[in-house]
Amino acid sequence: MNWEEGAERLVGADADGEDQAVESALRPKNLDEFVGQPKVREQLDLVLRAARARGGTADHVLLSGAPGLGKTTLAMIVAAEMGAPIRITSGPAIQHAGDLAAILSSLTEGEVLFLDEIHRMSRPAEEMLYMAMEDFRVDVIVGKGPGATAIPLELPPFTLVGATTRAGLLPPPLRDRFGFTGHMEFYEPAELERVIHRSAHLLDVETDPEGAAEIAGRSRGTPRIANRLLRRVRDYAQVKADGVITREIAAAALGVYEVDARGLDRLDRAVLGALLKLFGGGPVGLSTLSVAVGEERETVEEVAEPFLVREGLLARTPRGRVATPAAWAHLGLAPPRQNGGAPGQQDLFGA
Ligand SMILES: Nc1ncnc2c1ncn2[C@@H]1O[C@H](COP(=O)(O)OP(=O)(O)OP(=O)(O)O)[C@@H](O)[C@H]1O
Ligand SMILES: [Mg+2]
Repeated sequence: MNWEEGAERLVGADADGEDQAVESALRPKNLDEFVGQPKVREQLDLVLRAARARGGTADHVLLSGAPGLGKTTLAMIVAAEMGAPIRITSGPAIQHAGDLAAILSSLTEGEVLFLDEIHRMSRPAEEMLYMAMEDFRVDVIVGKGPGATAIPLELPPFTLVGATTRAGLLPPPLRDRFGFTGHMEFYEPAELERVIHRSAHLLDVETDPEGAAEIAGRSRGTPRIANRLLRRVRDYAQVKADGVITREIAAAALGVYEVDARGLDRLDRAVLGALLKLFGGGPVGLSTLSVAVGEERETVEEVAEPFLVREGLLARTPRGRVATPAAWAHLGLAPPRQNGGAPGQQDLFGA
């Protein structure tokens, strides 16, 4: 399972089609509707306003942040705020420089080109992009070998919006060509409550404030998860109650979907449970831990661990994964030793 599938798995058991349709229906359409991210919103607002006032094209924008925080949403907002059309593609879709040349050469003036997962673009395409971003020009190579010639092609000014979950993987020359970089942060519970109220309104679901707060608290700081949990709670409320989302209904529904009070799901608890019960809190190597929970290394490392680390439940150390005291408390277990050594510092092999 990779990152994206992992994010899907997370409490997302409904059909992809419905999922995507609902997701786009719930997307804020302009900056005012976009909840949270005050810094990025203010900075981007300035960039776009200034460009509009100049009657020009906005600078290239790079958006980085974890899945589901609103990068695609913001890219669409950039186009909407500029009154410009948007072309959507992604790094993995551009395998050859020619693919990129075809897209670039068909852009119209002021158009927004949204390049999702920009860190996964091929090298030659990346190099073509450097020139396109800076000089609005590409060299189309015709022919092969010593006889090959580069035909320069002028491009209309456009705005590239790049999105990445891994800003660190972008080569510096690419990163530096963006006039503005927005780092998306995880959302505060109060912000997620606003996201939930907004979505509930759009979905025509009645939600009381405590119900929204209950869902927000389990949403891992991520609007996509908040929206997904909201839909599952709505289903439960419709089937088991009168359709209104209260705190009790939300808690009961999320219990059914195995999302606990802190937002941990089945996989997270399996990882934590194995670390505590089988390995005494660690340190234990990632491979061993993954085998113990019957998952791929990558799934444990990329899907479960980031959230567990962020929550202060698990630490990655040079000697392996270690549970924190909060992990023992969260699973209602007592740390094995009370002899002054920090829990989790014990070595399985007695070395
Ligand atoms: N600031 C926000 N306010 C309200 N809703 C939001 C906000 N950010 C995201 N959402 C909701 O969360 C969903 C996911 O957002 P989006 O698709 O933009 O995330 P992403 O960062 O592009 O994720 P990925 O990295 O997986 O592509 C959207 O459908 C949108 O409804
Ligand atoms: Mg996206």
